[in-house]
Amino acid sequence: MLRASKTITTHPQNLDMKVSPSLLSADFGNLSRDIDMINRSEADMLHLDVMDGVFVPNISFGFPVIQHVQRLCDKPLDVHLMIVEPQKFVGQVRDCGAAIMNVHVEACTHLNRVVQQIKDAGMQAGVTLNPATPVSMLADIVDQVDLVLLMSVNPGFGGQQFIPGTLRKVAQLRRLIADTGSKAVIEVDGGVNDITGQQLAQAGADILVAGNYVFKAPNPLEAIAKLKNL
Ligand code: DX5
Ligand code: ZN
Repeated sequence: MLRASKTITTHPQNLDMKVSPSLLSADFGNLSRDIDMINRSEADMLHLDVMDGVFVPNISFGFPVIQHVQRLCDKPLDVHLMIVEPQKFVGQVRDCGAAIMNVHVEACTHLNRVVQQIKDAGMQAGVTLNPATPVSMLADIVDQVDLVLLMSVNPGFGGQQFIPGTLRKVAQLRRLIADTGSKAVIEVDGGVNDITGQQLAQAGADILVAGNYVFKAPNPLEAIAKLKNL
């Protein structure tokens, strides 16, 4: 009884917090070892950041790497495309075995069509907002997507500082989801650690992406477990 009431008071929002470690902060010379750690961990999925040097000022990795990851990883793949014209790559993302394909609202002129293409390809459709893009941009699409990914840093690099205004956006998005009857879940990406993770859980986030906090931790398995049990 005591334990149950403590759980409810301490963890009001996130009894089922999901964690998506970002491979961007892994050791690329030891990918198999790091993915084996993910397989043994409590992580719910694995976040893969694709960058093109145009939409964001950095280049990460592409489809051959994701195919390799897919062969090694037991968890669903959560692919975050930070590229222009993501609609050109729906088939390739699907062929890499992605469960979720996230595209940036800022990169899609015909967002409704891209979302439909992702769903038609058998993946879950995620739409992503940069920190300066308002939640109101989603008003006419949120009821058609499976996931909204809120960036809590400017995309392009791991290890940046969390932007606190994201907490307000999570709460706004929660309201928009409720008002539109959307089934979308809320994922947050950038600067997540045990402190910002706790704040995000209280604001109503469903999934936390974490790169540096997991892969640079002395014990990554413990870091993942900590986010799962904020
Ligand atoms: C940033 C990427 C993130 C990044 C997060 O553009 O989208 O997924 O890996 O890294 P951390 O958790 O270190 O901020
Ligand atoms: Zn990401």
